[in-house]
Amino acid sequence: MALIQPSGMKKNVIHISETGLTMLEDKTIILGVCGGIAAYKAVELLRLLTKAGADVHVIMTRAALEFITPLTFQTLSSNPVHTELFNLIAEREIGHISLADRADLFIVAPATANVIGKIAYGIADDILTTTVMATKAPLLFAPAMNVNMYTNPIYQENEEKLRRLGYLFEAPVCGSLACGWEGQGKLAAPETIFESAVMALTEKDLSGQTIMITAGPTREEIDPVRYISNHSSGKMGYALARAARLRGAQVLLISGPTALAAPAGVQFITITSAVEMRSEVMAHVAECDVVIKAAAVADYRPLTRNSTKIKKSTDSTKMELVKNPDILCELGKMVSGLNPRPFLVGFAAETDALIENAAKKLHEKNLDMIVANDVSQTDAGFNVDTNRAVLFFKDGSSCDCGLMTKDQLAGAILDHVVAHLAEQ
Ligand code: PMT
Repeated sequence: MALIQPSGMKKNVIHISETGLTMLEDKTIILGVCGGIAAYKAVELLRLLTKAGADVHVIMTRAALEFITPLTFQTLSSNPVHTELFNLIAEREIGHISLADRADLFIVAPATANVIGKIAYGIADDILTTTVMATKAPLLFAPAMNVNMYTNPIYQENEEKLRRLGYLFEAPVCGSLACGWEGQGKLAAPETIFESAVMALTEKDLSGQTIMITAGPTREEIDPVRYISNHSSGKMGYALARAARLRGAQVLLISGPTALAAPAGVQFITITSAVEMRSEVMAHVAECDVVIKAAAVADYRPLTRNSTKIKKSTDSTKMELVKNPDILCELGKMVSGLNPRPFLVGFAAETDALIENAAKKLHEKNLDMIVANDVSQTDAGFNVDTNRAVLFFKDGSSCDCGLMTKDQLAGAILDHVVAHLAEQ
């Protein structure tokens, strides 16, 4: 998605670390709803936006009123719904202009070919198109229409013109359309549009940086049905990848097996074992400005992998394990020879002596920063949505982040990365 703003547009930013990634608490968003069968999905989008704290004002076109009632949007947004241009002009301040001025972001979802065509040609003949013309907020269109309308060169030319002017688009997806056709024209999922909205509002302080993030566990196979692993869910590493992407970085996420979907817009490489993770990390490190190793890499693997399932023939058994490569330690040695040297961030998962162990790893692995988390706590570490971490830096300074969501901690870690990159 292009993020160039039309000249003169307002720059609205989310400072992720202060508010958490999905918190839009101080944001005013206009949600324009056009007439189409997908209008009901705008309700779910509104719910996501308000849940994240945004103050949402809904504008409906006359055609939208044929599909859904304003009462639904009014109830969920706790704001009056705007449907008529001239009612508002009767107010003391001109309603649609005031709304256009206050907006941090304007989303039109679903956006019809008709409304996109009118906006592309500067036609402002109802409350929605007039407010679009009057706003300086970034504008995100999520089109939904019949596949033949979508591929029609007239529509495509209008979209292209708006894209050239810096308007943002979340493309429709393929599927069975309400009109009976199969093809591209279905409104993008509300979660996808929400993510693009957060992206449009996020400060791009990592733009131009390439960041490698490792996440999740590794699995060390014993035989075709068994393996050694740990409880890492990938949540911490994926939160970092999403945050870095939203802040404008090129992100390479190298992940062990998890149940999570890769965040939008990241380059995603999956691995199973520590040896596989090592080879992907080493293949890409030279391209990176920052490496963050949030993965829980198994320290040992079985000396041999049985090609067939091991039978339970004896009452007890022994297995010989060999040490896996310490990827971070290798990286620490290797980056000393690179110019410029990537900024290296490790994690320390500790159950005791957090500070001493983290300081030792920071020093021994030649890191710039280490995120020490006490994984003995029930609200921190493996497979939970929150974490408690202390950040330690090469210069001896530290920062205790306390209890936070993993999204918030990701924001805080990246704030320190940004600050240190600026110093370098
Ligand atoms: O995935 P979640 O469920 O969200 O859980 C998050 C987490 C607890 C996995 C994460 O916050 C975390 O602490 N990750 C690091 C886990 C770990 O392996 O810690 P460690 O102290 O054993 O290793 C220190 C560092 O060396 C880590 O950056 C690790 O990635 C790296 N390492 C370790 C061993 C090894 N063979 N190679 C490595 O690169």
